[in-house]
Amino acid sequence: MKILITGGSGQLGYHLQKIAAIDGKHELLCPSSAVFDLANSELIESFLASNRPDVIINAAAYTAVDKAETEIDLAMAINGSAVESLANYSIEQQCPLIQVSTDFVFDGQQGIPYAPQTKCQPLGIYGESKYLGEQAALRSPYAKIVRTSWVYSEHGSNFVKTMLRLAAEREQLSVVADQVGSPSYAGNLAKFIWQLLESPGDQIILHCSDAGVCSWYDFAHSVFDLASSMGKLKNVPQLTAIRSDEYPTPAKRPSYSVLDCSESYKSVGLTPQQWREALTVMLEKLN
Ligand SMILES: NC(=O)c1ccc[n+]([C@@H]2O[C@H](COP(=O)([O-])OP(=O)(O)OC[C@H]3O[C@@H](n4cnc5c(N)ncnc54)[C@H](OP(=O)(O)O)[C@@H]3O)[C@@H](O)[C@H]2O)c1
Repeated sequence: MKILITGGSGQLGYHLQKIAAIDGKHELLCPSSAVFDLANSELIESFLASNRPDVIINAAAYTAVDKAETEIDLAMAINGSAVESLANYSIEQQCPLIQVSTDFVFDGQQGIPYAPQTKCQPLGIYGESKYLGEQAALRSPYAKIVRTSWVYSEHGSNFVKTMLRLAAEREQLSVVADQVGSPSYAGNLAKFIWQLLESPGDQIILHCSDAGVCSWYDFAHSVFDLASSMGKLKNVPQLTAIRSDEYPTPAKRPSYSVLDCSESYKSVGLTPQQWREALTVMLEKLN
């Protein structure tokens, strides 16, 4: 099978390719964003027409949550309109399309984990653009949405690597403690997506995060705790828990964005890994 993976240079795209390379069953197409630019519908359509993939995994996205508040058209084009072109191809060719989405489609007010069918109410442009992408994908009966949250990996830029860099530079760090969610190691997310393609169940919208819940403060605390016990951190900075209003950002974030993943994991036949265990796996891979 010929599988198109968009966003091959990103965190998830990297792990999707890594797992596929071990498996060796599929031919992968992983064009760069210059060759397959999701902001350019003509490029998308001509690439699909000449390469004719059997499956599309859309792991590419405009992921700069704060910048999206000013680059509205670009975020909407990459995360929203581009998915219309992917969905059109999916409909015409009866081609499975996996559209990766986010916990930011929710407003964070619910206080209990969000089930896949919960009404979406994004708070900012990034969330809105990703919701638009979901709607566009779901026009195709061959599409599935996989929502995830707080993605990190040894590859690419993310919160874990930022914390480790800051730990080397600062004696003290303040991290918000009133935003709660579930971290997701991109390697586990990639495994989930490959499994979903092997065993497609009835669910159209699936949730995939690692197991357990924490605040960004807890997450940072664990990064320092685990990295220092592995001898990967010389300096552990003093960590202070702060409120979101003490760290204002252009985009408003959901205060509680835990995804209920129970049915989704069951439907693909996997068990979620506890987030601290997954973090340990990632930290062990870091130099
Ligand atoms: N990161 C998170 O915390 C998080 C949380 C929830 C959901 N998600 C979702 O999970 C998925 C994977 O995220 P990630 O963290 O792996 O993303 P990432 O590391 O930020 O990578 C984004 C990828 O998208 C590509 N891209 C950006 N603009 C593009 C364009 N115009 N045309 C084609 N490709 C373009 C980038 O290519 P270049 O390198 O060439 O720019 C890169 O490969 C996304 O759908 C994201 O919305 C992420």
